[in-house]
Amino acid sequence: EKGGFEHFMLKEIFEQPSVMRDVMRGRVSVEHNALHLGGIQDHLDTLRGAKRMVILACGTSWHAGLIGKYLIEEFARICVEVDYASEFRYRNPIVGPGDVVIVISQSGETADTLAALRIAKERGATVMGICNVVGSTIARETHFGMYTHAGPEIGVASTKAFTAQVVALFMIAVQLRMGNPEMSGVETSVLLQELLAVPDKAEQILRLNDDILSIAESYWDAEHVLYLGRGYNFPVALEGALKLKEISYIHAEGYPAAEMKHGPIALIDEDVPVVFIAIRDHSYRKVLSNIEEVRSRKGRVIAIATEGDREIGRIAEHVIYIPEAAAALMPLLTVIPLQLLAYHIATLRGCNVDRPRNLAKSVTVE
Ligand code: M6R
Repeated sequence: EKGGFEHFMLKEIFEQPSVMRDVMRGRVSVEHNALHLGGIQDHLDTLRGAKRMVILACGTSWHAGLIGKYLIEEFARICVEVDYASEFRYRNPIVGPGDVVIVISQSGETADTLAALRIAKERGATVMGICNVVGSTIARETHFGMYTHAGPEIGVASTKAFTAQVVALFMIAVQLRMGNPEMSGVETSVLLQELLAVPDKAEQILRLNDDILSIAESYWDAEHVLYLGRGYNFPVALEGALKLKEISYIHAEGYPAAEMKHGPIALIDEDVPVVFIAIRDHSYRKVLSNIEEVRSRKGRVIAIATEGDREIGRIAEHVIYIPEAAAALMPLLTVIPLQLLAYHIATLRGCNVDRPRNLAKSVTVE
């Protein structure tokens, strides 16, 4: 049942290229510069006409939601807020007709997300779901939605469900752009082409598994780890930190890299490793100077960098090189080494990665 893998989590990490292909299957046509998103096709006018969107979720699904905000704002130019379902539900939230609420949940059974969706619906918002489990409560109670088709996820730490959610959000954002007469149609076909190229690139990254294991061997006894990234990779930093704390019980924090100097830099010394997502995008130079600041405080740096980057190897202690892709698709790639790093560190510490202490696969109580 684990398909030759030692744990479900590892199996699910390795399934990601094929899961991404499944999410896209039958939905993406580069030739016609078109997307066929069955579940939302009849609601595109409502989505495009939204005053604003509010994404509600918990945990890893909330991280996918943050990436969704960046995607929808960039491609569809619709204002998006992201909130924890547990905060939204108890806040007497401002939400109503004209708002589109997107709830994201792998299990479709998370109590807080379900309660938040009910409040949004009661107050007259249109509620759309992005769920993995077919027929789940959240999927049934939303007005319409999209399934991620990642297949059953057994490991408590979410991996393939996350990448499937991000692919779904990417497709939704591009679909909304396509209908906007003020935006060019040419570029969307490039985006679709780039999207189709991601699964092969993910496969390439999975081949680095042994290298990542050997990096993990130098860090398994850390007590605290910091994860930093910017833009699309800021939520990935949060997700990398969450994976590590869930399964290895090491204290980890994710931050936008530029926030480092507003506090977290005080933590840096030779005992606090810092994982930087430092791919070549418009903020690369700035992240590089953050790395230098960490190095000058004797901090140890693991960098996720773009293939062919000759500079970074000179300042980071360890570098994991990943293939180039459009910035908006990078989270689908940068998250993979972070999942593997957390996995290996946890197994080296003898932790039960599939069933970490105190956690349940779906949180159906508050
Ligand atoms: O099933 P959901 O996506 O609604 O679950 C939300 C969170 O409970 C979940 O993502 C949790 O944070 C995972 N253990 C993360 O790995």
